[in-house]
Amino acid sequence: MPETKKLKRQTAQKAALLAQLFQERSMVRASLWLVMAATMTMIGVLLSSSIAFASDDVQRGEKLFTRCQACHSLVQGVNKSGPSLFGIADRPSAAVEGYRYSKAMEGAGVVWNEENLKSFLASPRKFIPGVKMSFAIRKQEELDDLVAFLRAQSHE
Ligand code: HEC
Repeated sequence: MPETKKLKRQTAQKAALLAQLFQERSMVRASLWLVMAATMTMIGVLLSSSIAFASDDVQRGEKLFTRCQACHSLVQGVNKSGPSLFGIADRPSAAVEGYRYSKAMEGAGVVWNEENLKSFLASPRKFIPGVKMSFAIRKQEELDDLVAFLRAQSHE
């Protein structure tokens, strides 16, 4: 009789141990899943917010571009009192064929990268003395948005 009791107790102990082990393992697995899910969510949020920021800039820049439209079009080959700004980003200055630039602009020899576009638009005649364009954008956020738009439409 005591033998069977001992055996019973041993079996019960083993079962309890196994149950505990199983519980621990599934908890570890569950927490791993949680960590993974949280990481994925964070990556997702970060990605979507940076995309949202980028397109917000571009959209605001597009609205600001209405200030330039009196003198500039974005259509290739369509010049107004200013040259077409089709594909302006990262191209050399005074490169539109058939547009009569000022001597100052022709001799400027800059590439319209982000930095140069911002400096020019902040104060055209300070950046390139003697240019025909005097229209400037003074606010830094507006400059950022406008240049984001010009770059987006040039590289789309
Ligand atoms: C009142 C007319 C006028 C307005 C408004 C104007 N521009 Fe201009 N822009 C010109 C003229 C004229 C030139 C050519 C300058 C020269 O040859 O000296 C020019 C030249 C440029 C150039 C150099 C182009 C090249 O081919 O190298 C850029 C870039 C430019 N403008 C961007 C803009 C942007 C962006 C705006 C709006 C914020 C704007 N301009 C508003 C008249 C204007």
